[in-house]
Amino acid sequence: MSEDVLRVENVAKRFGPVTALHDVNLHLGKGEVLGLLGDNGAGKSTLIKIISGFQKPDSGKLFVKGDETELRSVDHARSLGIDCVYQDLALVNQLDVVQNMFLRREQVHRPIPFLARKRMREQTREALDEIGVNVPRLGVPVARLSGGQRQAIAVARTVHSDADIILLDEPLAAMGAKEGAMILDVVARLRAEGKVSIIMIAHNYVHVLESCDRVNLIQDGEITFDKPTGETSVEELNEIVVEEYRRARARAAG
Ligand SMILES: Nc1ncnc2c1ncn2[C@@H]1O[C@H](COP(=O)(O)OP(=O)(O)O)[C@@H](O)[C@H]1O
Ligand SMILES: [Mg+2]
Repeated sequence: MSEDVLRVENVAKRFGPVTALHDVNLHLGKGEVLGLLGDNGAGKSTLIKIISGFQKPDSGKLFVKGDETELRSVDHARSLGIDCVYQDLALVNQLDVVQNMFLRREQVHRPIPFLARKRMREQTREALDEIGVNVPRLGVPVARLSGGQRQAIAVARTVHSDADIILLDEPLAAMGAKEGAMILDVVARLRAEGKVSIIMIAHNYVHVLESCDRVNLIQDGEITFDKPTGETSVEELNEIVVEEYRRARARAAG
C-alpha cells in the first residue's frame, strides 16, 4: 500500500518479569484490513492497547498518518481517528445500551447543554441496524444482554464513530456463527468502501484469509510473518503454528 496510516517501529513492552512485546514492527495501509494472528499470550492485545493509547510502550516509535506520535491516552488516540473494540469490551454493565453507545462521547444540545437522549437513542438504533444486530430494548442494562449482543454493541459503537483507524481485538470471540457472520459482513462493507483502515485480531484462519488484505502473525512478542492473504493459505499458516507447538513442547521437555 502506498500510504501508511499507521507504523509501529521497534516497539517493546514489559510487565514486570514478562516481556509481552520484544520488538514489534507493523504497518497499516490506508483502506487496508490487516489480520493479526497469534497464540494466547503472544502479545496481540498488548500491541492493540499501545496503538489505541491505553498503554504506553517502553520503547519504540509510533507514526500516525505520517507523524511520529506519543499517544497520551485513549482520548488522544481517538482525537487522531483511532478507535478500538477491546477484547474485554469496556462496556459498563450497569449502564443501558444507549448510555454505553455514547460512553465518553455524550451528545449535548447547544446552546443549552443537556444530554440529547432522543438523538442518542435514534443513533444507537441506527448503528445497531447497520450491524444487523437485534437488541430489542435499548433501555436495559447491558449486563442483561448476551455476550454476542454486548460484542455487537461494542463493534457498532466503534464503527459508527468517526474513527478511520479501527482496531478489533477478537471481535468474534463471544459470538455464535450468525452474529459472527454479521460482524464479518460489516468488515467486508468497510473494506469495500475503503475509507477506514482496520486491524482485526482473529483465531480463525479462514476468516482472516477471507476478510483481510494482509495477514501478520505474532509469536512471542514479535511479528514473524507478513504476507498478503492472496499469497498464503490455511495450510501455510497452520504449518507455522504447528511448528511453534513443536518447539514449545521440545522446550518444555527440556
Ligand atoms: N496488564 C498486564 N500485567 C501483567 N502482565 C500482562 C498484562 N497484560 C498482558 N500481560 C502479559 O503479557 C503477555 C501478552 O499478553 P496479551 O497481549 O494479552 O496476549 P494475547 O492478546 O496475544 O493473548 C502475556 O504473558 C500476559 O500475561
Ligand atoms: Mg488478547
